[in-house]
Amino acid sequence: MADKIHVTASKDYDVIIGAGILPETGKIVREILPQAGKVLIVSDTNVAPLYMKTVKDSLASSGFEAFEYVFEAGERSKNIDSIAGMWDLMAKEGFTRADAVAALGGGVAGDMGGFAAATFLRGISVIQIPTSLLAMVDSSIGGKTGIDLPVAKNQVGAFHQPSVVIEDTDCLKTLSPDLFTEGMGEVIKYAFIMDLPLYDLLRKTADEGKAAELASDTDMLTSVIKSCVADKAYVIANDEFDTGLRQILNFGHTVGHVIESRSDFSLPHGVCVAKGMGIVTDAAVKAGTCDPQEAAKMKDLIEAFGLPSSDGITAQDAVDGAMNDKKKRGDTLSLVVVNKIGKAEIVKVTSGEYLEFLEKGLN
Ligand SMILES: NC(=O)c1ccc[n+]([C@@H]2O[C@H](COP(=O)([O-])OP(=O)(O)OC[C@H]3O[C@@H](n4cnc5c(N)ncnc54)[C@H](O)[C@@H]3O)[C@@H](O)[C@H]2O)c1
Ligand SMILES: [Zn+2]
Repeated sequence: MADKIHVTASKDYDVIIGAGILPETGKIVREILPQAGKVLIVSDTNVAPLYMKTVKDSLASSGFEAFEYVFEAGERSKNIDSIAGMWDLMAKEGFTRADAVAALGGGVAGDMGGFAAATFLRGISVIQIPTSLLAMVDSSIGGKTGIDLPVAKNQVGAFHQPSVVIEDTDCLKTLSPDLFTEGMGEVIKYAFIMDLPLYDLLRKTADEGKAAELASDTDMLTSVIKSCVADKAYVIANDEFDTGLRQILNFGHTVGHVIESRSDFSLPHGVCVAKGMGIVTDAAVKAGTCDPQEAAKMKDLIEAFGLPSSDGITAQDAVDGAMNDKKKRGDTLSLVVVNKIGKAEIVKVTSGEYLEFLEKGLN
């Protein structure tokens, strides 16, 4: 049976999580958007062959006219040309403000489908149907949408909350093991920043030697995903527009983004976040705020799920990269530290203080 997690934001919505719920898409959307006639399903060349037909048939059987926009899979498609293609298609087919976009796929489909919906006719509804682990636990919830510019990622976008998020955990069966592991970087992040019970569950799974089986254990996986969704929903409810609490979701990301961009994006995001979490935690130990045993437990969990917890980057490079990042405010940045598992702290630091802090962790 499906579970519902409610998200309270400028627009409230449910995240519906269950195994095999994709064929229910039409019914779910009909209930939420009784007036809608047309739906543009945005998906990529990997996901569309697997799930487009199910979603399209389901929408059709609930009386929707469904259209497809399928882009070449990968981050490189996350650009204005793809969005323009979606705008053109919707305009040509006579979409009105009552109609909707359904984003079917990973974070790239979600960010783009959301952005096309946020901008077409100054905003139409979007349904998020995430199919990657990262998208299920993170990107599909919270309303951040957008595209990349050639100079940097996620430079253009809008806040646009979905009308509903439909998460069929069976979709994860076709995700590659590498992409699953990458998504675990974000899952572990929630455990560290705000969810001790999730940490305990992951710890137990790892201790029982079942970390590698998590991907195929539907019940366990569903409960892990539900925890993460509830965590993200809590953060969104308290800071939808990313001015305070939401910054805790950036744990490991400030260093991680720099590692990611220095690798020319050949290293996956979740892997870089895992490295970032390990580096910041090492530094917190040297700074005397984090107990070495607590840090060892964190790094051990990261590694138990097949992720790295360190990197050869120098402190200077990590700081230089971070100060070019959009998240800086003046000369200061918000450093997210976890000194005790289950609780993140945000510390405002100058670039000099950040350098001093990281030099401890990276030497
Ligand atoms: N909006 C937000 O709050 C937010 C948060 C985090 C990340 N993001 C964005 O999300 C993107 C990363 O998301 P991602 O890792 O899902 O990338 P992605 O959308 O490129 O998906 C990764 C790969 O997995 C494939 N895939 C997805 N689901 C599958 C399935 N069920 N079976 C087989 N293959 C499948 C995709 O085709 C793709 O090749 C980035 O663009 C990032 O900026 C956004
Ligand atoms: Zn992330």
